[in-house]
Amino acid sequence: MNSLSKLYNSLNKKYPSREDLTFKKLVNFQNHKDLPIHRWLRYREGYSVELVKRVIKELNIKGSVLDPFLGSGTTTYASALLGLNSYGIELNPFPAFVAKVKTRKYSKKFISDFQSIIPHLLKKNKPSQKPGLRILDKAFNVSVLNSLLEIRRNIDELKGNNKDLAFFTWLSLIEEVSNTYKEGNGIKYRGRFGYKRPPRRGTVGFEKYMKIVNESSSTEGWVVKNVHEIFNIRFNEILVDLNSMNYKYWKEPKIILGDVRETEILLSSLNNFNGIDLTIFSPPYANCFDYYEINKIELWMGGFTASYEDFKQQRKKGLVSNLNANLKNIEYFNQSLDTLLNEMDNKALWNTKIKDMLRGYFRDMSIALEKLYKVTNKKGHVVMVIGNSSYGNVIIPTDLLLAEIAEKIGFKISKIVKARQTNTSSQQMKILKDNGLDTSLLREGLVYLTKTA
Ligand SMILES: C[S@@+](CC[C@H](N)C(=O)[O-])C[C@H]1O[C@@H](n2cnc3c(N)ncnc32)[C@H](O)[C@@H]1O
Repeated sequence: MNSLSKLYNSLNKKYPSREDLTFKKLVNFQNHKDLPIHRWLRYREGYSVELVKRVIKELNIKGSVLDPFLGSGTTTYASALLGLNSYGIELNPFPAFVAKVKTRKYSKKFISDFQSIIPHLLKKNKPSQKPGLRILDKAFNVSVLNSLLEIRRNIDELKGNNKDLAFFTWLSLIEEVSNTYKEGNGIKYRGRFGYKRPPRRGTVGFEKYMKIVNESSSTEGWVVKNVHEIFNIRFNEILVDLNSMNYKYWKEPKIILGDVRETEILLSSLNNFNGIDLTIFSPPYANCFDYYEINKIELWMGGFTASYEDFKQQRKKGLVSNLNANLKNIEYFNQSLDTLLNEMDNKALWNTKIKDMLRGYFRDMSIALEKLYKVTNKKGHVVMVIGNSSYGNVIIPTDLLLAEIAEKIGFKISKIVKARQTNTSSQQMKILKDNGLDTSLLREGLVYLTKTA
């Protein structure tokens, strides 16, 4: 048996997992993408509200909930709905803003005042300054970009507390009216034979929307004709959704723009902070996905990123999980990880920095877990939704490595659930099988930890 099989066997034995396919639909965003509020903006890397509700119920959580990789705010949304105290930490200013806007409690008075600003938002105005991202001219047709920047100036002129929601409405349109779409690891252009603009199913004003987004020719795909009208439709959808909200038990979360590796400092400086009973999150996976790259148009258009230097620094500050992160001077020792990295030595990797990235990833996740341990109350829980990856035909069983790290920190591993098998090419599958490797480790699932002491 080679050292890789030995490692997989010993980790599997130490941390047995069971399959529960009822989690399959819950670990991604698909399940709630057409629901009120969540349909405003698709944060594809998110999980579903139902997942968080299920875990809260299963673990009988009555106290505080934390998500230190908050993304678009699914965890804090579900917690707020159930009347639980919740906290969210997110490093990227775009999703952090989205999460804040989605989880605020909007009064009837606010909603009716908001309704009254639409004529102001749609009025003719001078376009606001075009951001410096070089691909903008390709990413938008000239008239679309102009209309967006005109509405942007109208938003900038607002004085009241409705500015955030108006700005959010605008941000939520950007991908929809652009010539780009997010797919896989980056931004793609809607090409001649490529992807067409998808109709927004299950949304308010759908019929009207279809009239404005016309299929101009079979080669061009869907073309946006009137950004102001599309803005108006989204604005109305937001009003309809807010009017349907039941805020009876709603507890507005505390959302912090910050780094998971500073969780302890960030939370303990808050008033009335009494520790956390459930932390539930899905961190970036060790799969080279860059959250700044995929959201770069929104980051620049929204003014969250002001220059290329700024953009570079934002990427360097992030948790190491992709090749644009800070990969310098990474020192972290972990025996299981070293076995995996050694196995990669004689394999052809598509980038020479992958091994540094993996070392940085587990270093950063171990810092994050240490900090989470400190803020967790006795008998409290940490639940991680995590996907494994593979490089050069070496499977990285991230779930089991994180379980091992968590155990060393002091957590008890309560259970590991496999929610779904992840895809790989049939060619890779064959190589893995020919080498006698456990392909069931190519999976996404949940790791449950408990703090006993
Ligand atoms: C998988 S997504 C979370 C999605 C979230 N569960 C949802 O439903 O929207 C991971 C998030 O972690 C954020 N992140 C990356 N590094 C971080 C760090 N050092 N501190 C806090 N958040 C970070 C990313 O920006 C991304 O939004």
